[in-house]
Amino acid sequence: MDRRLFLGGLAAGGALATPGAAFAQSADGRRRLTMPQRLDTTATGRLDLMAQPGETDFLGTGPSATAGFNQGFLGPTIVMRNDGALAVRVGNRLGETATVHWHGLVVPGEHDGGPHSPIRPGGEWAVEMALDQPPATVWYHSHAHGSTARHVYYGLAGVIHLTDGRDDARGLPVGYGIDDLTLVIQDRRFDPAGRLVYAPDTTDILNGFLAGRILVNGQVDRVAAVPRGLVRLRLLNGSNARFYGLHFDDRRPMHLIATDGGYLPRPRAVEFLRMAPGERAEVLVDFAAGGDAPVLMSALGLPMRILPFAVDDTLPARITRLPDALDAAPFIDAGAATRTRRLALNMGGGSTGISRIADGLVAPSGAHARHGAHAGRGAHAGHGADFDPGPFLGGGPDGLPEGVRMSDFSINGRPYDMRRIDFEATRGTVERWTVTGGGAIEHPFHVHGVQFQVLSVGGGAPRPEDSGWKDTVVLAGATDLLVRFDRTAGPTHPYMYHCHILEHEDAGMMGQFTVA
Ligand code: C2O
Ligand code: CU
Ligand code: CU
Repeated sequence: MDRRLFLGGLAAGGALATPGAAFAQSADGRRRLTMPQRLDTTATGRLDLMAQPGETDFLGTGPSATAGFNQGFLGPTIVMRNDGALAVRVGNRLGETATVHWHGLVVPGEHDGGPHSPIRPGGEWAVEMALDQPPATVWYHSHAHGSTARHVYYGLAGVIHLTDGRDDARGLPVGYGIDDLTLVIQDRRFDPAGRLVYAPDTTDILNGFLAGRILVNGQVDRVAAVPRGLVRLRLLNGSNARFYGLHFDDRRPMHLIATDGGYLPRPRAVEFLRMAPGERAEVLVDFAAGGDAPVLMSALGLPMRILPFAVDDTLPARITRLPDALDAAPFIDAGAATRTRRLALNMGGGSTGISRIADGLVAPSGAHARHGAHAGRGAHAGHGADFDPGPFLGGGPDGLPEGVRMSDFSINGRPYDMRRIDFEATRGTVERWTVTGGGAIEHPFHVHGVQFQVLSVGGGAPRPEDSGWKDTVVLAGATDLLVRFDRTAGPTHPYMYHCHILEHEDAGMMGQFTVA
């Protein structure tokens, strides 16, 4: 694995960033969580980003080398119109090639920002995007093949609010940082001196890189101040590999209003919200009732404290009742599918018992349900602790630790190859995909250039988290998707599909397709 930090980071003196420097003290002395800076493009139709090195003092013990967009770590929350034109320019002041992929935007392949759109050091990427999709919370991150995990880890990621400006009329909170909070949840490792560390070993590639320290918006040990009313949380799991089972310590409900691709038809109360890397969810939480200091926790794998909240009566409580209904984009009719496709994510070549399935075979439905529908909840405990690394021993090429072979990570038996188009889809058509995972891990499967709907997981109905429009789904058993191709992607800028455990993606659990 390339362990170089971003050249020019500490040495060239990127701006020293203390995430959320403009905090206020809360009553008990804990520092308040701050939002990423907001970058509103709705009036200008222009977006200028700069990938740049930074120095970030996460723990108050001194600076770590980091990277960000327009700042030292992470990037601004970009507000975009969901149906407008946007002129984008991205520069690169890093010492290495990066990209900006819009994860969740349904834009043509040339605008998608995947591995085929590298921005070289000192270079620039300029595209004119025409956006046309339902409002949603999406995100952006570097997607330079082989470096995606390290880039995201060190900070090359941010959130996008795709908006039609009508949330106020929907009765939804819109006060950024007041009753509309953007929360980027990430786990990170620090060395004894408090510096951010990314040095994956073989186990970290197999399980994905997991860490014990939680950052929210790049900040540790903060408290989120909220008004005594309904608050919207726009959640992004921006971690490389960790799944979260989000819940409040007092078990108050979270009213799920949106998944990756936009609104649900109506709020759905959940006590427990599973979020895999790459997924977004929007929930409304009522802080008017119950205690004034609930804590957002995670119960999947390691129990963790994610973020304490504190009701602050000086903040305006503008929304006090749940909307009855939301204007969700209607689902596609399952009967519209004109072809089926099977995709099997593989770990460990053929040795895990996962057969290599030829591209495009018609799938008998219900086959391949290796994991039960509810393997989900505890399956990430220890994250593959029972996983046998045996088959992976052997020499490794550059870019992977000793003992991991690129060919161990693949889809339908083929590791990612930038020069190979894995299949071709037809614009305007609908396909039914059956996607299965491999090994002891439930892989989060992501597709570029589309939003899809989940028909079933492990033969059962999708969980609430998977009940709306999605671009990333946890393969907790054979998963049936309905995918419609609305935009085109040619062979020079194909769309990716991959595991969103970023170490798996970089190691080859990725493929690419065109839409014509
Ligand atoms: Cu979030 Cu292919 O990416
Ligand atoms: Cu994506
Ligand atoms: Cu995976």
